[in-house]
Amino acid sequence: MTPHRVLVMGSNGLLGQKVAETLVRGTSAVITLSSLEDGPVRVLEPAEYVKTDLTSKKDVKNLVARAEPDVIINCAAITNVDACETERELAWKVNVGGVENIIEAAQRTGATVVHVSSDYVFDGRNGPYTEEDRPEPLSYYGKSKLAGENILRASGLPYLIARTMILYGFAPGVKANFVLWLIQSLEKGTPVRIVDDQIGNPTLADDLAYGIIRGLDLGKTGIFNIAGRDIASRYDFALRIARAFALDESLITPIKTAQLRQPAPRPLKSGLITLKAEVELGISPSTIEQGLAVVKNQITRGARRAADSAPVPGQPHTRGRG
Ligand SMILES: NC(=O)c1ccc[n+]([C@@H]2O[C@H](COP(=O)([O-])OP(=O)(O)OC[C@H]3O[C@@H](n4cnc5c(N)ncnc54)[C@H](OP(=O)(O)O)[C@@H]3O)[C@@H](O)[C@H]2O)c1
Repeated sequence: MTPHRVLVMGSNGLLGQKVAETLVRGTSAVITLSSLEDGPVRVLEPAEYVKTDLTSKKDVKNLVARAEPDVIINCAAITNVDACETERELAWKVNVGGVENIIEAAQRTGATVVHVSSDYVFDGRNGPYTEEDRPEPLSYYGKSKLAGENILRASGLPYLIARTMILYGFAPGVKANFVLWLIQSLEKGTPVRIVDDQIGNPTLADDLAYGIIRGLDLGKTGIFNIAGRDIASRYDFALRIARAFALDESLITPIKTAQLRQPAPRPLKSGLITLKAEVELGISPSTIEQGLAVVKNQITRGARRAADSAPVPGQPHTRGRG
């Protein structure tokens, strides 16, 4: 089933931009993009952009009535795990209430709904996990992502749940993900402490976007783990980032998760087994080095574009937002 009309929620975020870009380049579908801000971070013609707050039932209903999608891909969420722990009401409102609003609006048209979930639905005692393993979230973020999954599964709508983890990549104006943050820190010569007891597969956002769209094209439903090929500790990942970007790896010191005293508990021995997605969707997720090479290329092109469009020649420009 190649979708004819697609609505992307959270289209200004990292994954949202990658999904929107992949759709606009690769399909003839009518695409509507939507996020919290007044306008799109990047104009992707011919897609239309409509500002929408996911937590407003009325706005979501109006958006879905306007877009008439046969597929809704929800990339919007509160993704800051510690903020979810301390601001629980907001986390629930967006990560669960938002999914409820989408489901309610989709029920009028019978649209397929895509929910992007996380390895944080697991406790990290015995990863890596398959789609069949029993979720046991430790954090409020993990609980909210699992609740979103469960509501969708019980909705009666056709659905695709893509579980992923440690999402990284480059796109205009995105919040600093682990890779972008580390590059910025090391470029400035700032020493960083990185945990060596959290294990999982870092995932290139472009690969996840492609996997989701491939699943839709093939008419797949159900849960799919879509994550990077390599499982590594965060510390190992950081060293590999430093090497890929020729930065000073001696600035990186290993520490334990417990030393950070973060508000939200983290799954430690995590990771997602992607065999089902590889076989059923025919995808081949990037290794860490392949993914970092893609990011490096995108940063270089982004900096070149920013330099070309800079109002004052020679004025320094920043990486990340803007
Ligand atoms: N990042 C990871 O490592 C990771 C790991 C596993 C799973 N995931 C899941 O993957 C998905 C995409 O993550 P991401 O890293 O691409 O996230 P992101 O870059 O933080 O993007 C999320 C987007 O949602 C928007 N949003 C937040 N509240 C909203 C609301 N009330 N109404 C409309 N839009 C709203 C945000 O807008 P503002 O920026 O204006 O707030 C942002 O554009 C999420 O479902 C996340 O839970 C992420």
